[in-house]
Amino acid sequence: MDSTINILDHNVINQIAAGEVIQRPASVVKELLENSIDALAKNIQINIENSGKTLIQVIDDGKGMNKKDAELSFQKHTTSKIKTTEDIQKISSMGFRGEALASISSIAEVELKTKTEKEEVGTYILIDNSKIKKNQPIGIKKGTSISVKNIFFNIPARKKFLKSDQLEMRKILEVFYQIAISHHNICFKLTHNNSNLYQLPSDNLKQRVIKLFGKKYNEKILPIEENTSIVNIKGFIGNPLDAKKTRGEQFLFVNNRFVKSPYLNHAIKSAMDNLINENKHPSYFIFLNTDPSLIDVNVHPNKTEIKFEDEKSIYQILQSTCKKSIGIYNITPSLDFSIEDSFEVPLHIQKSIPKEPKLSFNKDYNPFNLKKFDSKEDSIKLFKKDERNFVETVLNIDLNYAVCKLINNNSINIFDKKKCIQRIIYEETILKLSNGTQCKQFLIKPICVELNDIDIEVFNDNQKIIESLGYVIEKIEKNNIYISGVPNQIKRIESIQEDIESFIEEFKLGNNNLQEDLIKIIAKKFVKNLTLNNTSFNISETSGLKSIVNKLLNCKNPFIGIDEKPCFINLEPKNIFK
Ligand SMILES: Nc1ncnc2c1ncn2[C@@H]1O[C@H](COP(=O)(O)OP(=O)(O)OP(=O)(O)O)[C@@H](O)[C@H]1O
Ligand SMILES: [Mg+2]
Repeated sequence: MDSTINILDHNVINQIAAGEVIQRPASVVKELLENSIDALAKNIQINIENSGKTLIQVIDDGKGMNKKDAELSFQKHTTSKIKTTEDIQKISSMGFRGEALASISSIAEVELKTKTEKEEVGTYILIDNSKIKKNQPIGIKKGTSISVKNIFFNIPARKKFLKSDQLEMRKILEVFYQIAISHHNICFKLTHNNSNLYQLPSDNLKQRVIKLFGKKYNEKILPIEENTSIVNIKGFIGNPLDAKKTRGEQFLFVNNRFVKSPYLNHAIKSAMDNLINENKHPSYFIFLNTDPSLIDVNVHPNKTEIKFEDEKSIYQILQSTCKKSIGIYNITPSLDFSIEDSFEVPLHIQKSIPKEPKLSFNKDYNPFNLKKFDSKEDSIKLFKKDERNFVETVLNIDLNYAVCKLINNNSINIFDKKKCIQRIIYEETILKLSNGTQCKQFLIKPICVELNDIDIEVFNDNQKIIESLGYVIEKIEKNNIYISGVPNQIKRIESIQEDIESFIEEFKLGNNNLQEDLIKIIAKKFVKNLTLNNTSFNISETSGLKSIVNKLLNCKNPFIGIDEKPCFINLEPKNIFK
């Protein structure tokens, strides 16, 4: 009987396995750099061409390989780093699976040149589709050079899934930052298409951070240190008051390995509790050192996920270490009196988990039972002068609330004046931004927004969208964007840096409805920063209150405030006295 099950060819097995280890050029960079580090290199050069799509070359001055090891290194499950099961319990090297080079050579053309201290001549090996095509002696210095060319040349489906050059290069830079920070004593040089991106001498951690992210980090980071029986903590946390909207500079290393841990990230952020806004992200460069037998790095093939035996204690120690540093350096927020009378939701409310409104209300309530309130046509009416009068009587209750009765309707409506105004201005702003009728305000002097290398790439990719919102970009010089005009709705010029950062976060999320979402962000920001005096509404006189209700009832979504809570509630006497 014919069998339908095939035993896969060695090459196919390798290619499937490679998918786990190598997802994109950045994964190759990570694996090659980790190998150079394990080989105790002091100098590492990385040459990239076309964002790694055509060439990734890593040259190191580490211990190199002899001829036999060089040949073996490309075979699956060959490693010099562990031997027995016990070794897995106490891994101190970056690599240990013996998989990276085998995976890489199954999805790209690889050229290896290597020599040890002892050998007179080195070894040159050329590999194509996992097969050695050339193997000959070569005269080189001690160390290893590996060139990986035309990644995924033999797997068109994977090649097709590579993203834009900018995005792939950004991913490479992310890996480069992770390794350059954790190994600040190693000299790195990074070139892209023959131009020099970074040349980093051996440095201490702080200097390395400054060389990568700019001089401003000199004042922006606070040292942290704690030694306990389960973990030693060292590094820097960014001043919480400088926290950014972008998630960029968050680096956590466990035994010098970069890890992603939402749990520990939470520990760091919660240490800054009252000093940091919910939607901002602190920067940090933190090293946890612990007994290798207390962690499991084998949870994910990329080794960026890690499992601690006693995660709860690590959480608490990390949190209190960060708190201590913030205490020592006496970071307290300065009060911004300019927003005292603003619509900004107080910090303590923003932080609390939103509760269901206690009063039940009908979201679709329409005082006249007319369908038209949610129609687009009607929302446009909002901006026409011949506004329809819906209000029969209106009465002020206090500074915040008023009641009204509508024409031809026997129920009473209570409304939150500020929230209603916010809703009106929010929708008005969205409309103006969407149809391009928003006015720009030109600044007397351009404002400089400074972004890191990754964020500037994201900005460049999306510059047109930002400009279409009303931002005027005068020039971009390296990591500085000079903005000479902003949408008229932006009132706080000081927040431009923050605004641009929050857009970049949205771009990174790769949202499909980007333009629409950005417009909502700008509109919300504008409304939040408004003070009552900046609006044309008069909330103490009957005519002003009537105008609020009339405008509100012309909104697309009239009964919900921009905080998603009701702003206009209807009470039917017959239902109340039931
Ligand atoms: N740059 C280098 N210098 C010296 N030896 C190297 C270098 N790169 C690789 N090797 C040798 O080749 C072996 C195989 O490398 P490979 O990256 O495939 O596996 P690994 O590093 O042991 O484990 P992992 O798959 O987790 O990375 C290594 O164990 C090491 O002995
Ligand atoms: Mg390796």
